[in-house]
Amino acid sequence: MAASSDSPGFEADIRPLFRDGDIQSMRFRLDLGSFDDVSASADAILERLRAGDMPCDGAWPRDRVDLFARWVQAGTPR
Ligand code: HEM
Repeated sequence: MAASSDSPGFEADIRPLFRDGDIQSMRFRLDLGSFDDVSASADAILERLRAGDMPCDGAWPRDRVDLFARWVQAGTPR
């Protein structure tokens, strides 16, 4: 599931990481299905993913958090 390029994109690599349940659960605060919302909150999201307390039902594996981190480092490309 790793991105094939150095620069992961939202639609191809990041959006598929979020389950329907993640999107529903977080809708009260941000829309994880929306490029605009996820880019705007990328730092806060990465912080929670790294801390392991989001998603609420179990931390992501390291390679998945790293993929999200690479997307943030790349400037959150669409
Ligand atoms: C990959 C999936 C998820 C991500 C990236 C994520 C991200 C975040 C972020 C960034 C916040 C802080 C929002 C803010 O303060 O503005 C947050 C809060 C919260 N999330 Fe999630 N979330 C995810 C999945 C879930 C799931 C599955 C639940 C389960 C019900 C959940 C429940 C909550 C709740 C209750 C809060 C508010 C309390 C708190 O800040 O801990 N989230 N989440």
